[in-house]
Amino acid sequence: MTGTGASPMERCPSTHGLGRVHGGPDAQGAAVFDFSTNSNACGPCPEVLAALQRADACHYPDPLYTDLRERLASWHRVPAWRVLLAGSASEFIFRLTAWVVQQGGRRVWIPPHAYGDYAEAARAWQLRRVAQPGQAQLLWACDPSSPLGQDDPALDAIGLGEAVCVLDRAYEPLRLSGALALPLERLNRVWQLWSPNKALGLTGVRAAYVIAPVGAEEAVQVLEQLCPSWPVGAHGAVLLQAWTTPSVQAWLADSLVTLRAWKARQLALCESLGWACRPSHANFHLARPESPQTVTALLRFLRQHDIKLRDASSFGLPGQMRLGVLPPASQDALRLAMQRWRLPAAPGVSGVPEALGRAGFSAPAGPGARV
Ligand SMILES: Cc1ncc(COP(=O)(O)O)c(C=O)c1O
Repeated sequence: MTGTGASPMERCPSTHGLGRVHGGPDAQGAAVFDFSTNSNACGPCPEVLAALQRADACHYPDPLYTDLRERLASWHRVPAWRVLLAGSASEFIFRLTAWVVQQGGRRVWIPPHAYGDYAEAARAWQLRRVAQPGQAQLLWACDPSSPLGQDDPALDAIGLGEAVCVLDRAYEPLRLSGALALPLERLNRVWQLWSPNKALGLTGVRAAYVIAPVGAEEAVQVLEQLCPSWPVGAHGAVLLQAWTTPSVQAWLADSLVTLRAWKARQLALCESLGWACRPSHANFHLARPESPQTVTALLRFLRQHDIKLRDASSFGLPGQMRLGVLPPASQDALRLAMQRWRLPAAPGVSGVPEALGRAGFSAPAGPGARV
């Protein structure tokens, strides 16, 4: 295998050492109160779930996805050739990176705090991560961004020059405020990555699609060549078909109203816990406890109480946590657990939260100590 010229020190560092870090289920399974994913907590969408249960798993899907491609194209008002099916957004991130390298690309720009697979793919393909968007041949942006849920400052740089630009729109359907600030002319020059499983509350179904830039016919052909046959299985195809139907979109619109109310309640809870929350447009937000150094112990404690929050360290934000917006009952479970966490640690008595005692690490210092 030939090298790409980047020295090991220049290559993208892994965002972590021991495996990819994601929210959601872990080795212990799914937490009952799982704040660690950004999946729509109003889901699963009942109509899509019912359609999935009827999916024809006995046959391959049409290998060209003719009908599905046309549906997605007409929904987005683009010609069908601009729609690429992908096994998932994660799959496409790696495929597109491979294509950029195949075209001679060696340098990538990734926002400072971003979905880890951009950097993982760059690392796998030995792309060098550069400090300025203008130096890169591949640029990533995500809007609303993750983990911040804000306008991505990378928007200033995409769709302008010759570099391949990807706009990850995984959370656009879950946007609770604001709007994408990218003129159509520039949007038409970027690869738009859509992953509806989050908005439908069905992240276990793996399927995504991409809208290619105007004039990118040749690139689309090469990206199709790089794709194995049937990237989307029968269930994924059902999910993407359902995605474009008015009734499913109406369900999603209703769920955004609910999520806005839940989010306001959740932010008030966080504030009452002394956690500083950053503003966000999405159905998730960051929170920073008063004692950020206790985050690791706090997250372990909560996990033992079947509550999971996402440690934001792997996003380059140590001492912060990302919380997906969950319903009031889940928020109440978090409130209760936090009351236990904050119990004063009277020497040798029951004040030490039970789970902390079990786990063999000490409670936060001092009476009433907070995280
Ligand atoms: C910003 C962003 N893009 C893409 C993905 C991956 O989506 P998929 O489930 O389609 O692989 C995630 C998953 O967390 C994400 O947060």
